Amino acid sequence: MDLPPVDLVAALARARSREQPGPDTPAGPAVRAWPGPPRHLPEAGPGELDLGRLLRLSLAAADRAGRLRPTPSAGALHPVDAQLVVGGRCPLPPGRYGYDPLRHRVHRLGPEPGAALPGARIELSVTPRRTISHYGHRAWPLMLLDTGHAAAALWLAARALSAGPPTLLLDGTDDEPLAALHIAPSEGTRRDAQAPTPRELLARRSAPPPLRGTPPREELRAVLTTATEAGAGELAWCVAVGAPRPELVELAPDGTLRRLASGEARPTLAAWAAGQAWLADAGAVLLGYGCPRDAEAPRIRRAHLRAGFAVGLAHVAASRRGVAGRPVGSWQQADLGAALGGAPGRGWIVHGLALGTIHSAHSTHSDHSARSVQSEEETS
Ligand SMILES: Cc1cc2nc3c(=O)[nH]c(=O)nc-3n(C[C@H](O)[C@H](O)[C@H](O)COP(=O)(O)O)c2cc1C
Repeated sequence: MDLPPVDLVAALARARSREQPGPDTPAGPAVRAWPGPPRHLPEAGPGELDLGRLLRLSLAAADRAGRLRPTPSAGALHPVDAQLVVGGRCPLPPGRYGYDPLRHRVHRLGPEPGAALPGARIELSVTPRRTISHYGHRAWPLMLLDTGHAAAALWLAARALSAGPPTLLLDGTDDEPLAALHIAPSEGTRRDAQAPTPRELLARRSAPPPLRGTPPREELRAVLTTATEAGAGELAWCVAVGAPRPELVELAPDGTLRRLASGEARPTLAAWAAGQAWLADAGAVLLGYGCPRDAEAPRIRRAHLRAGFAVGLAHVAASRRGVAGRPVGSWQQADLGAALGGAPGRGWIVHGLALGTIHSAHSTHSDHSARSVQSEEETS
């Protein structure tokens, strides 16, 4: 990282306050300056983990219009850096590599530490300057969420390629990496029918606002189930539903939707989400909440990484069901638990996913990026 270790407790308290970020500063280079010459990622042989395709489906810049990664990222700033610890049965010799997502090349950084498992461990960290450049003191929770989204993208790519089951590590405490996944080579497992296809992963986008049209309850239930399962109990999940019967719903133990509260929550959500007015008209908004005011740094970190991971999976699940989504990451004073009648300070919104069935199509990628940055800019 290019900054001293951060005090996450103080950073989160400040990000949740009413304080506005200052003017933008330069974001710096889009990719970390890895040392040494760039190396091509060779094609995978039989029984090897296809690292090249795995990275193409998750982290490689996908188009020539300036979009930096296939994953979503707050402000399209993409602070997440990836290092690969390559073990056996990979198309690269064992060792540690830095990944350049713009050129889809790797830089050898050294030998692998000890006996790496077959396959690769992908370690994710961030270059804070990129997100701080726009969001200032609101950047830390967003960077943790972004890292969770990148982990989700790798997880989904591993599934799409029928690699071995990924192992996800989101509970580390070192400054670097913030998150890691170990992905094993395939053991000849048949393709999981529930897994997304490579095409679906590359087609995922954040739908530009306005994002209207309440999704059918069955789709909401499926998206909420995906988020709840991927969230692994770190947060509570619910959906604020729009017309014709505005309410908040959550999953009942039997997997059906049940009412958490009646009434219209979306205008309040818009005010809490840095004043993004379009949220008041969103068809529905998936919400992950918890991470109390007295949470210590490891819990804050875990909750945000998990929330990013869960919303990443929920976003792709929604798209596959024909429901458009847009992550929403900046929340101030968003004490949903207290608004629902609980104790204050216990149930803060950590992450959201606006959902809708009626939305404008993307024009060009660069157009869209410009528009999405603008919509977040309007808020600060
Ligand atoms: C953690 C996170 C928070 C985000 N927060 C917002 C938000 O508050 N408002 C918004 O309009 N878009 C938000 N986005 C969506 C990004 O603007 C979008 O991902 C980015 O512009 C790249 O576009 P793409 O997702 O279509 O690739 C967020 C994305 C992430 C990952």
